[in-house]
Amino acid sequence: MLSKKVEKALNDQVKMEGNSSNYYLALACWADMNGFSGVADFMYKQSDEERFHMLKLMKYVIERDGEVVVPAYDQPKVNITTATGVFQDLYKHEIAVTESINKLVGICLSENDYTTHNFLQWYVSEQLEEEATAKTILDKIKLMGDDKSAWYHFDRDIAGLTVTSIADPGQKA
Ligand code: FEO
Repeated sequence: MLSKKVEKALNDQVKMEGNSSNYYLALACWADMNGFSGVADFMYKQSDEERFHMLKLMKYVIERDGEVVVPAYDQPKVNITTATGVFQDLYKHEIAVTESINKLVGICLSENDYTTHNFLQWYVSEQLEEEATAKTILDKIKLMGDDKSAWYHFDRDIAGLTVTSIADPGQKA
């Protein structure tokens, strides 16, 4: 059985993951409208992944006999003008999600809820991977600078990448 405090914190994270999914959808649409079809595909996949993160949390709350609140999404505020900006935003966003997961883990510990603490370790690892991915992409972008040919290849190649395949080159999607 979940404490009310943990239940609320999990529902807050459900909302954050749902908003993340919507946010990446907005980044995907920006890329799609601006001719970066590979970046758009990558972001559409990211959006699906965030929805999966949300559903995983919801199912856990239900499994523990808690009450899930299906969240209303905030309209994503996307204020970018370049493809570089898309990935800078992604990185900033993932750092914020990591902070939120860490806070949630802290609440579980303060409530002596070691079962939820254990469940959340999957999210802790996932965040490590997502931040590393975003950082790797930003490093590549820095190297490319304004080289249009490099951007062309980057856009073509990124469509085939998943978070896991970038973090672990041995596991191509
Ligand atoms: Fe579900 Fe990228 O955080």
